Formats: sequence, structure tokens, C-alpha cells
Amino acid sequence: MSDIVSSDKLRKATAIAHPNIALVKYWGKRDEKLILPQNGSISMTLDKFSTKTTVEFLEGLEKDFIMLNSDVVLEGGVEYEKIVRFLDIVRLRAGVVLKAKVVSENDFPTAAGLASSASGFAALAVACSTAVGLDLDKKELSILARQGSGSASRSVYGGFVEWYRGEKEDGTDSYAEQLIDESGWGSFRMIAVEVVGEEKKVKSRAGMKQTVQTSPYYQSWLDTVDKDLEQVRKGLSGGNFKLVCEVAEKNCLKMHSLMLTTKPSLVYWNSGTMNVIRKVISMRDEDKGTECYFTIDAGHHICVMCEGKDVSNVQKELENLEGVKGLTICSPGDDAKLVDEHLF
Ligand code: PMV
Repeated sequence: MSDIVSSDKLRKATAIAHPNIALVKYWGKRDEKLILPQNGSISMTLDKFSTKTTVEFLEGLEKDFIMLNSDVVLEGGVEYEKIVRFLDIVRLRAGVVLKAKVVSENDFPTAAGLASSASGFAALAVACSTAVGLDLDKKELSILARQGSGSASRSVYGGFVEWYRGEKEDGTDSYAEQLIDESGWGSFRMIAVEVVGEEKKVKSRAGMKQTVQTSPYYQSWLDTVDKDLEQVRKGLSGGNFKLVCEVAEKNCLKMHSLMLTTKPSLVYWNSGTMNVIRKVISMRDEDKGTECYFTIDAGHHICVMCEGKDVSNVQKELENLEGVKGLTICSPGDDAKLVDEHLF
């Protein structure tokens, strides 16, 4: 295989990536192993949060050493296996057998519904492909990141990004591309609203599998999602905030309808989430209302979209709501990239 690298190409590498929030969601796989989606999706990469990951393939390690957030050494279990499986994909491609040391840090709460797996696997894809001596372009990095976590395929890019469903069984046509870079729509804001509550019980991987198998509305989702993608693409290219966000909010509600009608039901919202939903709707519906919309992933936290000029108004309305823990105002963030400062 032309990718096989010689051992003098091995080096320590560190990358930073940002999470993304989908405007048109991905929910359901057509291939569990390769992580191929049932539908395409579009997202915005956030500037405010990031994952930093350092990887080095080393002689003398008996197993992969994986440390998260300064103090959690993974010794086994689902998360450890997921990362080792990902490292195996890279090792196989590069013809390297050495085990790796991986240290990763998030500057935001892990598994808090803020897409930490997206930034996590995008940073890991960039760092470990470089550490092993592979020289991958953005498309290859997106395909690689996708195999760690579907939404990570989009975090390889900054700005607004589309991940294609693809048709091929080998997944070579299921990757992300940038629609607009981070400076292309600088006034777009995504306010990440952290809501008080417990960590989700059903992760997206298991949840979406149950939905595909049991929700009676899954086919309707697939029948309508291409239209949502088309509308959001049109809204993004024409700078039409209302169009992008109206479609994004409806798309989120459709995804949560699938979740609610899954057996057993996936109910991710809590009373804090509801308080934000009601407030956003009432702010919008008021006379001379504020143009703001919401979107929610598989968790109880919620993101509110508005334009820069309306941020302080929206912030004032949301920050004192019952159940709201904190707000982070995000603009479009940039691509995943290599950095010089290592974590070890
Ligand atoms: O890539 P995963 O397994 O973290 O799934 C992401 C699912 C959603 O966040 C709910 C939607 C999306 O497109 O990001």
C-alpha cells in the first residue's frame, strides 16, 4: 500500500479542533462500522470551545496509553475501545504496529451535549495521522475522523460545513466540505446554553440505532431531509438568516420527534430546556420581536441562534431563566489544525 510509512517519519504531533452544532442533523447510520449516515447534514463550527490532543507512537508501550482531561487515564471500557479502534485504523493504513500515547484536553465539559466527540475525533485524526507519518488532505482527514464519530467529519473544517451522505459502500464518498469559511458570515451567533441536569443516559450512537429500528416516522425524516439541506444551503449562500434558522429549528424538532417515538422513548429535554424553548419562541413572537431560534442535540443543553446585533438582548432574557447554568456566545470557528505546543 502506498501509504506505508517508514519509522523515521514518526513524530510527536498535537492538534486543536472545535466542536460543531448541526443546523440539519445527522441521526441514523446506514453502516455502523464505517459510520456512514442515512442522510447528509450541515453544521456550524464553534470558535469558543476546543479539544487539544497530543499523540506519539512509542517503542516499549504494551498497550495504548490514553489520558483525558489531565487526570483520567482510561484503562478499558467503551471509550477506551473506541479510541483504540480508531488508532488501529490509522496503524493499519500506515503499516505501523507501535502503540500510542494519547493525551487530550477539552476546555469545556466533556459529554455535556456540546459535541465533544466531534472536536475530540477531529483533533485525534489530525494529530495521529501526522504522528504516524501519513500526509492526509482535508477530504481524507474528514473520512478518517468520521470513523471515530460521525459528526467529527464536519469538525475538520471551520465555518459552515456539509457532510455528504454518499452512496458507496466503502464510504469514500461520505466526507465533509466547507460551504462558507469562518469569516464568511462573521455576525452569525450560536449561544450555547448550559442547562442544569444529569448527563444523558443514552448516547447518540445507541440512540440513533434504536430510532432507525423502531420509530414509525423514520422514513418521513429521510423523505424530507434533502429539502432541509437544500433550503439551508440556499439560506447560507444568500445570507438569509431567517431561512437558515427556521429550517434548522424545524429540523431539530423533527429529529426530536423521531427520538420521542423511538422504543424505548428517548427524552433528552428537561424543564430547563423547555424554559429556553418557550422564551425563544416568545421573544420572536412579540411585537417587533427578536429574530432568534433554537437547536438541540442529543442532550438537555440547547443552542440559540441569533445575529450579533441581538446578542445582548437575547443574553439578558436567557441568563436568569430557571434551570440555566451558563451561556457561551460562539461565532463561526476555524479548521482543525496542528499546533506546536504539546501536552507531554
Ligand atoms: O457523531 P455523533 O455520534 O456524536 O452524533 C451526533 C448526533 C447529533 O449531534 C444529534 C446530530 C449531529 O448531526 O451532530
